[in-house]
Amino acid sequence: MQTGLKDRPILVTGASGGIGAATVRRLTEEDAKVIASGRDQAKLDALATETGCDTLAFDLTSEDEVKSALADIQIYGVVNCGGWGGEIATPMDTDTAVFDKVIDINARGTLLVTKYAAQNMVAAGNGGAIVNVSSQASLVGLAGHISYASSKGAVDAMTRVSALELGKHNIRVNAVNPTVVMTPMSEWYWGRDDIGGPLIDAMPLHRWATEDDCAQPIVFLLSDAASMISGVCLPIDGGFTAV
Ligand SMILES: NC(=O)c1ccc[n+]([C@@H]2O[C@H](COP(=O)([O-])OP(=O)(O)OC[C@H]3O[C@@H](n4cnc5c(N)ncnc54)[C@H](OP(=O)(O)O)[C@@H]3O)[C@@H](O)[C@H]2O)c1
Repeated sequence: MQTGLKDRPILVTGASGGIGAATVRRLTEEDAKVIASGRDQAKLDALATETGCDTLAFDLTSEDEVKSALADIQIYGVVNCGGWGGEIATPMDTDTAVFDKVIDINARGTLLVTKYAAQNMVAAGNGGAIVNVSSQASLVGLAGHISYASSKGAVDAMTRVSALELGKHNIRVNAVNPTVVMTPMSEWYWGRDDIGGPLIDAMPLHRWATEDDCAQPIVFLLSDAASMISGVCLPIDGGFTAV
């Protein structure tokens, strides 16, 4: 597969976390110039030592921080991976402060990075690709996921609208929608047999996704191998949403 990613600058948010770091590792293997972002500078520094990526720390909830961080950098691609799981609650007992926070990080944060990165990408005129890390929680109803699913549903909608608006600039925008990956974000809940067992039983592939199961399709969607793919929300779910 010809990825065409060599020497292309790619910003990865959430790089101090599981899926983001796996994506940085795969992208640096392709010799992309990766800019790894998150808030935890120590974790970003460790990843930089391991992979040779650059780092750029900012908080996704601050428009000022996102704007100034992205003001002067040239970017070909973006992976909007930073996110937060929120709470497990029904529509009747949800804490609206948690709802506001999960929307702030997952939906508004994705929008802010897309906004300022896309301004630079359009001005540079080199085209590009954006991959939003959504979730299977936006594709089917999962018990207890009222806030998180809402935030990822917004990400899916942003993906389609951004694909429409940015296509004329040869910028493709896609999303991936992973099932459960056993990172700290998910293990405390889905690691319970009574919760995770029924989902695994219903899934055709009968296993959890790994961080690398997510990283490789993200790299594919960024790459020239996906040059005619835009506006897609791609499940990485072992077939769960297909049956
Ligand atoms: N794990 C799963 O089962 C699963 C399934 C489907 C989709 N996803 C999605 O995949 C993405 C990555 O998840 P993960 O499992 O790798 O989670 P993770 O290991 O908990 O990593 C979360 C990342 O988001 C960053 N982040 C959180 N709040 C932020 C903020 N306000 N500003 C900047 N960065 C912030 C964290 O940075 P710092 O730690 O440096 O603050 C960290 O790098 C998320 O969007 C998540 O919703 C996860």
